[in-house]
Parts: sequence; structure tokens; C-alpha cells
Amino acid sequence: LKFACYSNDGVDEHMVWLIGLKNIFARQLPNMPKEYIVRLVMDRNHKSVMVIRHNNVVGGITYRPYPSQKFGEIAFCAITADEQVKGYGTRLMNHLKQHARDVDGLTHFLTYADNNAVGYFIKQGFTKEIHLEKDRWQGFIKDYDGGILMECKIHPKLPYTD
Ligand code: ACO
Repeated sequence: LKFACYSNDGVDEHMVWLIGLKNIFARQLPNMPKEYIVRLVMDRNHKSVMVIRHNNVVGGITYRPYPSQKFGEIAFCAITADEQVKGYGTRLMNHLKQHARDVDGLTHFLTYADNNAVGYFIKQGFTKEIHLEKDRWQGFIKDYDGGILMECKIHPKLPYTD
């Protein structure tokens, strides 16, 4: 089992993983227009942390870091259908937090969570109360009425992965 973070950097192997992840999002997030998923996953401002097992993408999280604001916005998060509720989603989020803190220098995440995924995000430390000062995120993340805005503070020191 491997966790890796890639963006559209022109490396063929990375493109293969990103396309695999895009296909998982398209299936697991049926309310999201497929062109929108492709656009963000392939956008060079976005990064994707993925779970890879036996050379296959099992799931991942696509996010956009805003280093100047020290927060990141999670755009999509999914695990392929037959691998859900086995703990991969939790391990994935922990790898994302570690990477976002140590590589991007972020302190918080924001996301518009689907109603049915709120329970998952709460278990990952997200809250519906937004503590981040509005001037740090207003104008950076787009309003989206299909979900609930949630926030997670990344611990400055905690080791999230082993
Ligand atoms: N609602 C409530 N609790 C959940 C949900 C859910 N939808 N999914 C998982 N959990 C719980 C699990 O029961 C588990 O609880 P436990 O620690 O008490 O045992 C905990 O959350 C973590 O479970 P994992 O096995 O680590 O989660 P999983 O690997 O299944 O990944 C995920 C969770 C990503 C939500 C996955 O189920 C999935 O892909 N769902 C369909 C797509 C989806 O809804 N994605 C999120 C949309 S919102 C967005 O993308 C911004």
C-alpha cells in the first residue's frame, strides 16, 4: 500500500494515477459534473493525495493549497466502492494533513462536504463551526450550495503518519 501526492506535472506515470482517481470521483460523486471533476483534477493549482494498492488507485483527495492564506480547500474525496469502510479514508486524510502541513505549510482545511459525508469528516476532526478568520478565506473559495462548509485545524506538531 502506497500513499503519494501528485499534480499534473507532465510526468506520464502521474497522469495515469490522476486519470484513475478522476474515474473514482466520477463514479462516487454522481452529482458532480464530470467535466468539472476532470478540470480540477488536471488543474496545475490542485494536488491529489492517493492510495495506491497493487498498482491501482483505490481512492484519493484532490485539494487546492493556498500557501499565502495557509489553508487548503478539499475539492473531492472518495474511495472506490468495494474498498470503503476499511479504514483507507482515514489513513488518506492523515497523509493529506501531514503533506499539507510539512510541504505546503498549511494550518487549516476547508471543504464543502456532501450531507452523507459529514459523519466521515467529523471523524477526521472537521467541524461545522468555522474558526478561521473570514479574511483568510473569503474570495478564495467559491460558494457552493450543494454542501456544508466544514473546517479542520491541522495540528502543528502531531505525527499523522508512521
Ligand atoms: N458517513 C458517516 N460515517 C462514515 C461515512 C459516511 N458516509 N463513511 C465512513 N464513515 C465512518 C466509518 O464508519 C469510520 O468510522 P469508525 O472510525 O468509527 O469505524 C470512519 O468514518 C472512517 O471510515 P473509513 O473506512 O476510513 O472511510 P472510507 O475508507 O470508507 O472513506 C469516504 C470515507 C471517502 C467518505 C468513502 O466512504 C467514500 O468514498 N464515499 C463516497 C463518496 C463521498 O461521499 N465522498 C465525500 C464527498 S464530499 C467531498 O468530496 C468534499
